[in-house]
Amino acid sequence: MTSDTPGGARSRGLLSRLRRARSSPRSKARRRLGAAVRLLAALTLAGGAYTVFAPGLQAQDTPQLTTAAQEGKALFDTSCVTCHGRNAQGIEGRGPSLIGVGSASVEFQVGTGRMPLPRQEAQAERKPPVFNDDEIRQLAQYVQELGGGPQLPEGENLHQGADVAEGGRLFRLNCSSCHSFGGGGGALSSGKFAPNLRPANDRQIYAAMLTGPQNMPVFGDNQLRPDQKADIIAYVQETLAKDRDPGGLNLGRLGPSTEGVAIFLVGIVALVFASLWIAGKS
Ligand code: HEC
Ligand code: HEC
Repeated sequence: MTSDTPGGARSRGLLSRLRRARSSPRSKARRRLGAAVRLLAALTLAGGAYTVFAPGLQAQDTPQLTTAAQEGKALFDTSCVTCHGRNAQGIEGRGPSLIGVGSASVEFQVGTGRMPLPRQEAQAERKPPVFNDDEIRQLAQYVQELGGGPQLPEGENLHQGADVAEGGRLFRLNCSSCHSFGGGGGALSSGKFAPNLRPANDRQIYAAMLTGPQNMPVFGDNQLRPDQKADIIAYVQETLAKDRDPGGLNLGRLGPSTEGVAIFLVGIVALVFASLWIAGKS
């Protein structure tokens, strides 16, 4: 019993210490939990206030598009994403980025039926367009609003009042090396070719010069001023496309080699007959 009392006191002391020890971590945990809840509430409040007071911040991810561009995006998302990517940023090995190519390039590529490309080939070819004029304008607007770039002037006729003769001079200087003197086109290296210019309308000729598709060089406004572009369009449309041949017989418009062959054949035949005639006389 003697050892009971102090033992009892010690055990009671121990008990109360234990209780204190047990209760203190519990209250600490409760305090920590309270702090966490309060922090969460504060964060939620701050986040809520942020979204309420800063609604424009979303615009950085998805730029605000005009109605036409939104319609264009819808068309793009069904017909072009597979090769050009979600936001036209391009897909390695499938299609290039369209950021900065401008509405002129889209109008040219889609308007001449080159895009949407049915399959990978050496060169996209001219085909009947898949989209109508309104849809083409919407697609072009979408790409324009995504990344800017060259744009065409307004209107269908881009060569009103232009100088056809000057256009002919500029054409022979800048275009005939690939498209031939008559604009009939010609072969380039590696299965590529410069196409016949007759099917192209004013806007497409302008766009080709402005954007330089594939192997064609870009003729920016400092290489060919807008009025010089108009002169070239006038020459292509008024002289070449209307099949006017100011020089007489066109010989299939194949250029100087055909002319050489023609004069050679005609000349040889004439000489043979002349010598036969002379021989017959003597
Ligand atoms: C099968 C894949 C494919 C599809 C589908 C496709 N493209 Fe392309 N696109 C290409 C490739 C490859 C090129 C580059 C080679 C070329 O110009 O022929 C290109 C080039 C272009 C260019 C020229 C870019 C420049 O540098 O000027 C434009 C504009 C374009 N595509 C628009 C479109 C639009 C708009 C659509 C949807 C209507 C579309 N493409 C659908 C593969 C594709
Ligand atoms: C280095 C060769 C080269 C020169 C120079 C050149 N082009 Fe081209 N051009 C091409 C090629 C290649 C294409 C086909 C591009 C394609 O299919 O994507 C083309 C396409 C075009 C088209 C599109 C025709 C169609 O199918 O509707 C037009 C229009 C055109 N060129 C006009 C011109 C004019 C105008 C000039 C002179 C200012 C010129 N080109 C100079 C190579 C050339």
